[in-house]
Amino acid sequence: MSSNDDKYPANSGRRRFVKGVVGSAGLASAGTAGVAAVNSLVSSSGVGGGAVAYYGIENTKGPAPRAMPQIPVEIDDEGYLRGRWTGFEEVEARDGSTKLVVQTEEIGGIEYSPQWFQYCGIQGLGGLSPEYDGDNYFRYASGGRAYDWQPSSGRVAVEDFADYETWTNGVGTDGLGKGAFATWRSQDVDTPIPVQILRSSRIERAAEGDDEGAEWLAASTDEGFMAVLNKCTHYCCTPKFKSPQGPKFDAGDESYCPCHQSAYDPFSIVKRSFTALPRPE
Ligand code: FES
Repeated sequence: MSSNDDKYPANSGRRRFVKGVVGSAGLASAGTAGVAAVNSLVSSSGVGGGAVAYYGIENTKGPAPRAMPQIPVEIDDEGYLRGRWTGFEEVEARDGSTKLVVQTEEIGGIEYSPQWFQYCGIQGLGGLSPEYDGDNYFRYASGGRAYDWQPSSGRVAVEDFADYETWTNGVGTDGLGKGAFATWRSQDVDTPIPVQILRSSRIERAAEGDDEGAEWLAASTDEGFMAVLNKCTHYCCTPKFKSPQGPKFDAGDESYCPCHQSAYDPFSIVKRSFTALPRPE
């Protein structure tokens, strides 16, 4: 058994795939109970800020303070990937005026909402705005850090990842999973929301477990596809799974951030909490 087999166990180690608990028991109940309940964390200076619990990929090296959040994935009938979005609801304030507040939805045992992404300036982007006029499909990103194999535009499709069990870009372990750079809720906006897509058989196997974390994985991933908001929690750079720079820092099989050498392990899903910044009015 190689060291990677030990690090990323197959069937017998499913329970080790998801680990960690939220820092404070009180934070686990942030938001409101029930499906699509109106979120209570509304401040007068913005919308939706406050303490929130979430699932993400674990920060394993460097100064990054916490995990990068997942975006729950679903696949439509035609085989295209999109991220789940809970949207907004208009509520009446005490003074009779109306306010838009984010909604939360229970997915895989946790309250999910756009608050998960409200850090590093993402909270002010058009994609998180109630006025956003696009859809929730992931679309391939272009640019220098995109993977050589991927299209430079268009919706992310399952068929593009048919070779995910053998794919390699020459970095780290062959066949560990296939990555792509994408955007989400970024049509006709000034600044896109960056997303790392990954399809891996390890994710598929982990989602077949039966502990609390596996419930989340089963609900948030599909056919081995996982999506992560690709914003480093340190100073907001863009990490990359199997980055050519990663092996130098023992991160060839992880998402490596070149700015200050942080790394995140996409095969270690953790439950964490942080204080989401309010979305500007
Ligand atoms: S390690 Fe500093 S921005 Fe990622």
